[in-house]
Amino acid sequence: MKIDPWANEGVQNYKEICDKFGLEIVDHTKLPNPTHLHRRGIIFAHRDLDNILESRKAGRPFGVLSGLMPSGQIHLGHKMVIDQARWYQELGGDVTITVADLEAHATRGLSLEACRKYAIEEYVTNYAGMGLDPDKTSIYFQSERPIVQKLGFTLGKKTNLSEMEAIYGFSGETTLAHVQSPLVQAGDIVHPQMDEYGGLRPIVVPVGIDQDPHIRLTRGMVSKTNWFNVNTNKSGGMTIGLSIQDNNLEVMGILANGGIDDKQRNKVIDKVIGAINKAGFSQVSSNPKHGKIDIKDASVSDRNELRYQLLSLERKLGGLGFMQPSSTYHQFAIGMTGGKMSSSQPETTMFLNDSMKTIEKKIKSSFSGGQATAEEHRKKGGNPDVDVAYQYLRYFFEDDDKELERIRGEYVSGELLTGQMKAICVEKASEWMKNHHELKDQNQHLVKKFLK
Ligand code: TRP
Repeated sequence: MKIDPWANEGVQNYKEICDKFGLEIVDHTKLPNPTHLHRRGIIFAHRDLDNILESRKAGRPFGVLSGLMPSGQIHLGHKMVIDQARWYQELGGDVTITVADLEAHATRGLSLEACRKYAIEEYVTNYAGMGLDPDKTSIYFQSERPIVQKLGFTLGKKTNLSEMEAIYGFSGETTLAHVQSPLVQAGDIVHPQMDEYGGLRPIVVPVGIDQDPHIRLTRGMVSKTNWFNVNTNKSGGMTIGLSIQDNNLEVMGILANGGIDDKQRNKVIDKVIGAINKAGFSQVSSNPKHGKIDIKDASVSDRNELRYQLLSLERKLGGLGFMQPSSTYHQFAIGMTGGKMSSSQPETTMFLNDSMKTIEKKIKSSFSGGQATAEEHRKKGGNPDVDVAYQYLRYFFEDDDKELERIRGEYVSGELLTGQMKAICVEKASEWMKNHHELKDQNQHLVKKFLK
């Protein structure tokens, strides 16, 4: 099973993906102030989200980074990422948004100029109406932040064509610009940890499940750059292992002939023990020759703290010191015609710049889970799971869980007819759109601030 982030083919079996790729299920009861997307299981899976929540609890900084390809009109689906960024921001995180113009250029056949136009006119102007705090939000273009390209290059040393082929199904015909785009995305994801962009801290990447291949690639490359590995120990406790790499031979006490410089090795081990102490642990025993340090009084739940201290040390010694990114995954709303949502087929989605009339028309002719006749519907009831009007209330327009539950119940029982369901959706969508356009117009002055 492969996920192709560029194919827009929709994911069928979410559970299977979690099992296959080791995603964890989001438990929204453990989240502070969960949004409707969390409460309804739309944001359903994650990697290492605990790292973010722990930082927040301890009052330490954390960041959010996500991105969008500016390859067409902005639609409702795109809004989900910004809603999540705002939620993290309200919890204390800083926000960085990537305009993936290089990726769109490489994979969608658009010129960089066209991407820029879409990005500003469609995306950033609409973000202004979505409640992000301009003082804690930065939006940038991939083509204008050379550091993300440079980091992609550096991280690229930790992967190869076979892995790219295994993850993405790239082949001999794939252009090299396309091959590079996931590396630039990896650069996007790690760069907020650079000192110039906020320094070492956990970064969470909220994305659609189709983006997980990029997260997997990035996490893999990042962990391969780490100088100190934090592992669980079979006899209980944790073990730190030195990771010898081209760029740390001297620090790690490796001699030109491949032997070990004992003095230098002991020095680095002492430093590691210092970092372990800083993390709050003291029962350590080391085997300098094997480059291993066991910690008796630490357990798996202390892993993030240990990593943080060791990455700080790595930075002091000259390494990159990057933490693996955390991520969360959301499901996609069905397209309005019942198939996939796709920006190249306007009838399948609601664009944020659609007129009210267009929106009404799209909802009224949307795919429904109702029965063929009103009589049959009253008898058998409708199916909200495939009903576009219901699903759009659930994903986008009805924030009140009780109200949503009521609508669902009445639809299932047959009390609420398809036309009525659509009317509720039209009303709620109009309300939302009206409000959004007002906020957007009021806040256009923020566009400049976001892009600073
Ligand atoms: N690939 C993403 C998309 O197709 C855009 C993107 C680029 C991105 N860089 C990112 C998303 C970093 C999340 C994080 O929309």
